[in-house]
Amino acid sequence: MIIDWPQLRTAATAAAGRAYAPYSGLRVGAAGLAADGQVITGCNVENASYGLTLCAECGLVSALHTAGAGALHAAGAGVVDAAGDRPLLLAVAVVAGDGQPLLPCGRCRQLLLEAGGPDLLVDTADGPITLSVLLPAAFTGTDLASRREAREGSPAPESTGKEAP
Ligand code: THU
Repeated sequence: MIIDWPQLRTAATAAAGRAYAPYSGLRVGAAGLAADGQVITGCNVENASYGLTLCAECGLVSALHTAGAGALHAAGAGVVDAAGDRPLLLAVAVVAGDGQPLLPCGRCRQLLLEAGGPDLLVDTADGPITLSVLLPAAFTGTDLASRREAREGSPAPESTGKEAP
């Protein structure tokens, strides 16, 4: 699929314009291209209790699931990944209110990994890079499945090969 980066940045900038950032003064917008062609956006939402702040990427990932994991999945519209149970993000642009790229924070890199995998393309000032460059040696659902200990009365679950990246 062709990725229209200017369109993604424009959508991210529009989302940043709807951010609620009275405490930091940093509006952030994120726009992602889903596997079915939908452009999904999110903005940061701050809170007087600072730690409750939602990053723009959080909003995007939630909107991605809202838009794709339900009806489109059921309709077989191609928005889900090979495991068939979650929407898939192909590319993402995150910008500040001035429209210029902003690299996702560490927590959001982990969130984006689950939504787009290591090959997710991330917009930067120097062009797109894969998420694996921003988050190498990441902890994933596969690590979780293979390393967790058995609970009392039940054997340790084995990997199904369908865990998130
Ligand atoms: N922020 C994001 O929305 N995404 C990021 O990846 C980095 C930080 C927001 C959170 C907070 O509202 C503001 O930027 C300052 O940290």
